[in-house]
Amino acid sequence: MTGYQRDEATIASVQKLRFFPQSVVGGHGVRLLSDDGRSLIDFSGAWGAASLGYGHPAIVAAVTRAVADPAGASVLSTANAPATALAARLLDLFPSDRPQKVWLGHAGSDANECALRAARQATGRQGIIAFRGAYHGGTAGSMSVSGHAVQDGSEKAAGLIQLAYPDPYRPELGDADSVLADLAMRLAEVGPETIAACFIEPIQSDGGLIVPPPGFLARLAALCARHGILTVCDEVKVGLARTGRLHCFEHEGFRPDVLVLGKGLGGGLPLSAVIGPAEVMDCATSFAMQTLHGNPICAAAGLAVLDTIAAEGLAAQAALRGQRLRDGLEWLKARHPLVGDVRGRGLALGVELVTDRATQTPAVAETAQIVYRAHELGLVLYYVGMRSNVLELTPPLVLTDADIDAAIDILDQAFADVAAGRVDAAAVARFAGW
Ligand SMILES: Cc1ncc(COP(=O)(O)O)c(C=O)c1O
Repeated sequence: MTGYQRDEATIASVQKLRFFPQSVVGGHGVRLLSDDGRSLIDFSGAWGAASLGYGHPAIVAAVTRAVADPAGASVLSTANAPATALAARLLDLFPSDRPQKVWLGHAGSDANECALRAARQATGRQGIIAFRGAYHGGTAGSMSVSGHAVQDGSEKAAGLIQLAYPDPYRPELGDADSVLADLAMRLAEVGPETIAACFIEPIQSDGGLIVPPPGFLARLAALCARHGILTVCDEVKVGLARTGRLHCFEHEGFRPDVLVLGKGLGGGLPLSAVIGPAEVMDCATSFAMQTLHGNPICAAAGLAVLDTIAAEGLAAQAALRGQRLRDGLEWLKARHPLVGDVRGRGLALGVELVTDRATQTPAVAETAQIVYRAHELGLVLYYVGMRSNVLELTPPLVLTDADIDAAIDILDQAFADVAAGRVDAAAVARFAGW
């Protein structure tokens, strides 16, 4: 039995989002070792969670120390030194002239759920503004403010105002002016004083790596501020140096009230954080807690990630390497008519595939075939988007120029193979994807 067959026999389908039969046994740097002995270049970065790659010495040292002499296991009923050190560091990195507090969790989902519930509790308002295409998590509360197609069946928050996310590649679905006009009209209908918070992704990630038009988020945040509506910035995928700045919102000329971090914060361990005004984050006790929240081993990993981002200048590196990767993707666009759009910031890049550049018809089957073929050729990447036609590139921040060049070569081959019909469509169809 192969590793993948053992997985099929034992691991529940409800938590799978699979694109090809990947089975790994180890990892080092940007590379994963698959159980058939192949060394794969991982440009998914485990959906961005492996911010420092695999086996980074700073994480190995911090976690080894913390697990050998752990300061308990949780922050619920005792202070622990790694958790408070991490919280203090996060406060320094997201300064405010008002008192702020930090909540520590395991994942983007529980963090957004905490932000949602605390915003409602603190303001006494129930309404929420959020976007079609947004993915904020897989728990009931985080799904209730999400708008991704994969969660179409889930129950939405009472009083949810769901807006189009302005997409410069597809402005007919809503441009900045029309979306803000729609919001103003809907606020006038329900009364802005009923709205607790507006959930924003500064790049809409699982919706297709969509970078909003310049100025849109600043105008949205100003509108919210006028009505006492908290802006909650979900940087779970694109935060912490990935876009070339420490925080992605820094590109947009606004400061959110509440910042949500996850994925890359733990460098591969389960860790998330919400940082926000003390009056929101202290609105209750015994309110948003899970037994192992504030776990000192995960907190130690988070501190190691933040130390390494600063020590290795990873935000500047992401800008630099991101430009090289983007240039490579533009080169592919010039060679392969399937590429409709290349977009993103730093090392959070998306490539939208279309069967016809004039009609922008989503190339759904071809997208699945390209990620499948890339895996066969030694490159791991996944796809996202409301129409499942956007390649996502969120590699570890520590990648090299050689990794980028190798990945572009593989993608070039994968595009050529798909165009020539050299990919086994029946094998690809076994994997449901999004
Ligand atoms: C922007 C964003 N928020 C939240 C989440 C949920 O994070 P998690 O899967 O770690 O719970 C994701 C996951 O893809 C995400 O991309």
